[in-house]
Amino acid sequence: MNEPVRELYSEKRYPALSHPVTDISRIAVTARLGGLQRLALPAGSRVMEFGCASGHNLLPLAARYPKSDFTGLDFSDTAIRSARRASWEAGLENVLFEVADLEHWRPSHPCDYLIVHGLFSWVPDAVKSRLLDLVSQVLSESGVACISYNTLPGWSLKRDVVPLIRSLAGNPAGAALGGNVVEVAASLAEMAGNSTAHAAHLQATCREIVRKGPEVLPFDDFAPVCDPVYFAQFAAWAGQRGLRYLGEADLRENLPEGIDPAAFEKLAPLAADPILLQQTLDLLSGRTHRNSLLCRADAPLEEGTTTAAVLHFATGLGPEPLPQAHSGSPVTRAFREQVEAAGGNCTPVQELLERTASRLGVSWDPTHHSQEIAGWVFQMARIGCLELRADGIEVPSSPGAQPEISKLNRYFSANGLPVVDARHVTCRYPAGHERLLASMDGTRPFEALATQAAAEFPDLDFARWISHLAERGILR
Ligand SMILES: C[S@@+](CC[C@H](N)C(=O)[O-])C[C@H]1O[C@@H](n2cnc3c(N)ncnc32)[C@H](O)[C@@H]1O
Repeated sequence: MNEPVRELYSEKRYPALSHPVTDISRIAVTARLGGLQRLALPAGSRVMEFGCASGHNLLPLAARYPKSDFTGLDFSDTAIRSARRASWEAGLENVLFEVADLEHWRPSHPCDYLIVHGLFSWVPDAVKSRLLDLVSQVLSESGVACISYNTLPGWSLKRDVVPLIRSLAGNPAGAALGGNVVEVAASLAEMAGNSTAHAAHLQATCREIVRKGPEVLPFDDFAPVCDPVYFAQFAAWAGQRGLRYLGEADLRENLPEGIDPAAFEKLAPLAADPILLQQTLDLLSGRTHRNSLLCRADAPLEEGTTTAAVLHFATGLGPEPLPQAHSGSPVTRAFREQVEAAGGNCTPVQELLERTASRLGVSWDPTHHSQEIAGWVFQMARIGCLELRADGIEVPSSPGAQPEISKLNRYFSANGLPVVDARHVTCRYPAGHERLLASMDGTRPFEALATQAAAEFPDLDFARWISHLAERGILR
């Protein structure tokens, strides 16, 4: 039953990737905002990943939280061997990797965070069903699972386009369109243009295929199994196993892009039926993918905790620009100044509040103003202008005299794999740069590295690149 999927992973190597949406520091925020207040904090938790491949997603989390326990499971023994070697070389003693076929595996201990990324839509139906059974068996009382899957109706055009691209790429008569699926998708995008609604949709669909690229596509849109599902169906399957939908792992995804704010107002009464609301949002937004959070239906959920919860998180600048400074109240403006002054750091909200209070002096009203700020932070985080994490990130203000990256990132670099930054983003640099990264072990002076860089990569602005590594939190 699993055979085509097994064959794929024994023939091709899945690329080394980390996924920011599965960062437990962010999952903790969305789960707690969803009412799961008793969820263990990432720094003292049990974390599991189903289908962990070579561990590129789990290992950086294990390195970040040395007091938490991590378990990665995958049926590919080659992948698990690589994962074990990386953990050993990086000196990580809190992570175990097991070869296991999830169709038959039985859990021996519960976990607080379960990551199931790139698996659910890509396995046969019997394994899908088993995966949800396992989620319900393995989650601790207040545990949370993050599951990624493709969604309908957004995915419906792709369902027709993918087999056609496959046929065109394999047909000599279609050679003018390109010899592989990426080239054919690029040709279709160009030919489609965007003069009608259908053309624009087709173009966007094909461009997304091109953007994913040849490394990922065989495991994703062009995998032997790739089944999109309606959200309502997914939620019903979860409900049958005693699981409850909590929200999307990425806070921003709870307000899908492209929906008119007025539509949210009209839909507000549907809050009484959250599943129908979500399904309607999928139809309106055309989203093709979800990263949904599930908890046990009997998990204790606390209501009305948003502002109180925000005060326990850390915040920093998000991917979207903050609205014009003059638009907020004097209190939120003073707080915003503190966030901006923190640069690339993600700082505990309490610490920023203290700085704001000392800036405002006697006009600071602790109860009233901290509530106001928590509300503002939450609104900004929902639209991506701020980030919210369970714990802070402190990036170095300068590269230091002897630049150093983590042992794990040195191992990745020495083995030609991409490094992972402090926000769990996979970072790729031009070929050969991994040699420079691998030699940043804290013993070599900046000047020696700069000389090596000048000899090997004359076009590289080394000082700028190394500042970038500091800003991303790749340098320690
Ligand atoms: C697309 S990769 C995703 C890897 C990683 N979670 C990520 O998102 O980057 C899917 C992984 O699931 C594993 N897998 C697929 N079916 C499985 C099964 N029945 N039991 C265990 N692992 C499985 C594959 O070997 C592969 O490593």
